[in-house]
Amino acid sequence: MTSDAASYTSSVDFDHRIFRADIKCNQAHTTMLQEEGIIATEDAQAILKALKELEEEGLEALELDPSVEDVHMAVENYVTHLIGEKAGFMHTAKSRNDQVATDLRIALKEEIQLIMAGILTFIQDILVMAEGNQETVMVGYTHLQHAQPTTFAHHLLSYAQALKRDYQRLDDAYRRVDLCPLGAAALTTTSFPINRQRTAQLLGFSQVLENSLDAVSSRDFITETVSALALLGITLSRICEELIIWSTYEFGLVEIGDEFSSTSSIMPQKKNPDVAEVARAKATSIQGELVTIFSVTKALPQSYNRDLQEVTPHLWKATDTARDTLNLVREMLSSVKFNRNRGEDLARANFSTATELADLMVREKQLPFRIAHQIVGRVVNTALEEDLKPEEIDSLFLDRISREITGQALNIREELVEKALDPLEVVKSREVPGGPAPSRVQECIQNLQEFLDEK
Ligand code: ARG
Repeated sequence: MTSDAASYTSSVDFDHRIFRADIKCNQAHTTMLQEEGIIATEDAQAILKALKELEEEGLEALELDPSVEDVHMAVENYVTHLIGEKAGFMHTAKSRNDQVATDLRIALKEEIQLIMAGILTFIQDILVMAEGNQETVMVGYTHLQHAQPTTFAHHLLSYAQALKRDYQRLDDAYRRVDLCPLGAAALTTTSFPINRQRTAQLLGFSQVLENSLDAVSSRDFITETVSALALLGITLSRICEELIIWSTYEFGLVEIGDEFSSTSSIMPQKKNPDVAEVARAKATSIQGELVTIFSVTKALPQSYNRDLQEVTPHLWKATDTARDTLNLVREMLSSVKFNRNRGEDLARANFSTATELADLMVREKQLPFRIAHQIVGRVVNTALEEDLKPEEIDSLFLDRISREITGQALNIREELVEKALDPLEVVKSREVPGGPAPSRVQECIQNLQEFLDEK
């Protein structure tokens, strides 16, 4: 191979990610070979001693350059350098094909656990914020148009629920990462009487991958994990999107902490939500990694093909991006100050309580909802024409419109009309499970707290 070809095909640039896993893999395999009497105790002990030394010395001790091709060769070269040719016994009944698949799974399990722990911390932080904002009124949107009053706590908990599913998806993917390919060797195992259960156990895997050809062929554990990360990215990106919109002058609903914002180099009055914007874009790149992984793997024949090596850097880019984005979005959300006055003003403005007014007519006067909807529609239009504010609507005004439409007055008690137009009262009345009433929000906080406590 020319040196250009060697560089082009080498994995050394990203093999540091599996360095520790590769040592563990060699240790477990050597221990098993010794236990099963496949290699001499004395040779096994020399190999294990050399591996221990490498573990202590760290990556710097390795000669990891394209001429050695990859980390598996570099580790073997290191052991050979220390103990001579008996290092070769380490590779009995093993191939780099089952080894790389094992290493990737070991390293990925750790990454998934870190990200899962990060999600739990994020949910915990959201619960703290929600606890303090159960009566912090804001308007909820559909089509990004004023829809109905809700609370900041209720909105925050919608993030927490999405994050809980992101956690569960990773947890589920983890089960299929946690399967051991070691012992598959190149593709059809070996004629040595190896003990696959034992190496799987030594490496902390829950089970072995049963079919040896599948064991070296499959990377769907990567595709599945990155899919879960792409979905996590979407959750994070949507949180960022809302913070970006809400922090505009027009919305004025939140202020993001200075630590997560920058100013413009030319416009001194500006505060830009840079972290949220970059996070929104980085979430996209996880989707890009996923598409690459799908495309590299989709048309490969079974067994090991070198194309599989090209999946690996995309996996680590996805895990790194997901981890960093998760941590920064979490910290940024915690830095947010919610403008309560503005939240209430927006919830009162623009007839966001109109649905409740229609519900009131249904409840008090047994009107069919469609007729109530029609009356309230005209109430809103007339109020806008006559320049009336929502709080200026009273029982008499409702009667006037009702007569126009049904020929009859409604005679709804004034205090009920007032209540229906008060955003906090409206929120409190939504006591159905999952609704924004503080009692239900409290219940949702408790359920999520229990979920966290079980972990
Ligand atoms: N560097 C390779 C990878 O990352 C390791 C396996 C190489 N196997 C082989 N037969 N060349 O996939």
